[in-house]
Amino acid sequence: MIILGRFIPSWILLILTLGSGIWLSHKGKPLNTAIFTLHKLIALAGVVITAIPMIEAFHTWNASSGLILAVGLAAAGILVLFITGAWMSIGKLSYNAMRSVHIVAAGWIVLALAAASYPIHLPGN
Ligand code: HEM
Repeated sequence: MIILGRFIPSWILLILTLGSGIWLSHKGKPLNTAIFTLHKLIALAGVVITAIPMIEAFHTWNASSGLILAVGLAAAGILVLFITGAWMSIGKLSYNAMRSVHIVAAGWIVLALAAASYPIHLPGN
């Protein structure tokens, strides 16, 4: 559980991001600016705080192919979340389609963080 421990702040911020997203969604349209900003900033803080142990992992933990895959999946998911989130806020393209992709990508991030947290990435495993 050494690695899981390193990702505890990431899990806390991810749960807060999911919670603020659901809260934002329940507030309806037009989007509540304060909750929208909060949601974005917590998400950004989560990305920064997760990048630190990930980069460290590459340097010190003898990055396994599993870890590289988890990082790649997480990076792709984050990109999708920021793009669909921005698109929803400008109201371009289909809002419902963007929202569906945003929700799927959020689930994707939960899986990627779970994969990164799992101790199989320790050297020797
Ligand atoms: C790790 C990053 C993120 C995660 C895990 C995440 C997750 C979520 C979740 C679970 C919802 C609730 C969806 C629903 O029930 O309808 C949501 C809503 C929303 N998120 Fe995010 N989000 C992230 C980043 C962002 C970013 C960066 C933006 C903006 C640039 C954004 C914009 C929005 C908007 C506008 C909604 C409201 C959608 C609606 O009308 O239902 N999100 N997000």
